[in-house]
Amino acid sequence: GSPLRVALLGCGVVGTEVARGILTNPIDLEARVGAPLELVGVAVRDLATERDPVVPRDLLTTDAEALVDRADLVVEVMGGIEPARSLILRALRGGAAVVTANKALLAERGPELFEAADAAGVDLSFEAAVAGAIPIVRPIRESLAGDHVRRVLGIVNGTTNYVLDRMTTEGLDLDEAVAQAQALGYAEADPTADVDGFDAAAKAAILASLAFHTRVSIDQVAREGIRGITADDVAWAARTGHVIKLLAVAEVIGPVDDGEVSVRVHPALVPVSHPLATVRDAFNAVFVEAQGAGPLMFYGQGAGGRPTASAVLGDVVSAARRRLTGGQGLRESKDQDFPVLPAEAAITRY
Ligand code: HSE
Repeated sequence: GSPLRVALLGCGVVGTEVARGILTNPIDLEARVGAPLELVGVAVRDLATERDPVVPRDLLTTDAEALVDRADLVVEVMGGIEPARSLILRALRGGAAVVTANKALLAERGPELFEAADAAGVDLSFEAAVAGAIPIVRPIRESLAGDHVRRVLGIVNGTTNYVLDRMTTEGLDLDEAVAQAQALGYAEADPTADVDGFDAAAKAAILASLAFHTRVSIDQVAREGIRGITADDVAWAARTGHVIKLLAVAEVIGPVDDGEVSVRVHPALVPVSHPLATVRDAFNAVFVEAQGAGPLMFYGQGAGGRPTASAVLGDVVSAARRRLTGGQGLRESKDQDFPVLPAEAAITRY
């Protein structure tokens, strides 16, 4: 078939690996999609920034709007609310499918984006927005669509897990460990998003919205990050047979089809015998408990360029295939009306 034109918005740690995946695997992807994928441009803020040579300079542009307008499929890995939001809306309204890794945007403005996608009859996919490489969005959204999810619980921020792990195993203090995580490309551009729990809270809001077919925004998530955790806390936890983990929890309190939803992110003492205690480095783990399925466990790399790009590319292939066959993915309709506990109430229920 004729090539599908792909626009890449953002060329940081993840964007570079997405570009590498498209540019260096053209045969594989073409076979899986049924048509070639043509990377038509990469929108960046600054043309002068030094970049990985895998990204051809002549694909770079600072005119993201013009790039969006000539794409069939737009991949947004720039992060932040604006201009990502406006560009995604522009793409959807123009009939392009969108793949995004932008958890902050989805957790703040998700409904607006999903409505635009539904109105245009195009896909908005976001597997990479939660827990990096781990397939968790599609399992909850699709595989469990015929079940009732009761609870989602896990470690969904790789940076803080890496930081707590280094504090535990090497006795580093928080700032030293954060600097290491940044050097490895795990941290968000602003590490506050990781350290203070905003990134985990955004992911918790997305998971809760999917799991409970309702709308949970980031300001409904009770949030406490790891900034206050000291080397002494970590050592004390170890002496009592625990490790400190930053957990995200979303659960229905009360009847599974008529309860209240509580969503929260906070450091917790996890007994060393618990599976979550064994999650090292920037790995993530998510437990899902559904009425029919029972307990499910997902584990893998939650941050970093290549793992996150793997999830992005999976969405690109699926969206491209649906585009060729004229179909659209699942709608993001809000079909349940769970009251979501306000953040303060969520914390006191714990
Ligand atoms: N900064 C995020 C993390 C990247 O550490 O998990 C993946 O969303």
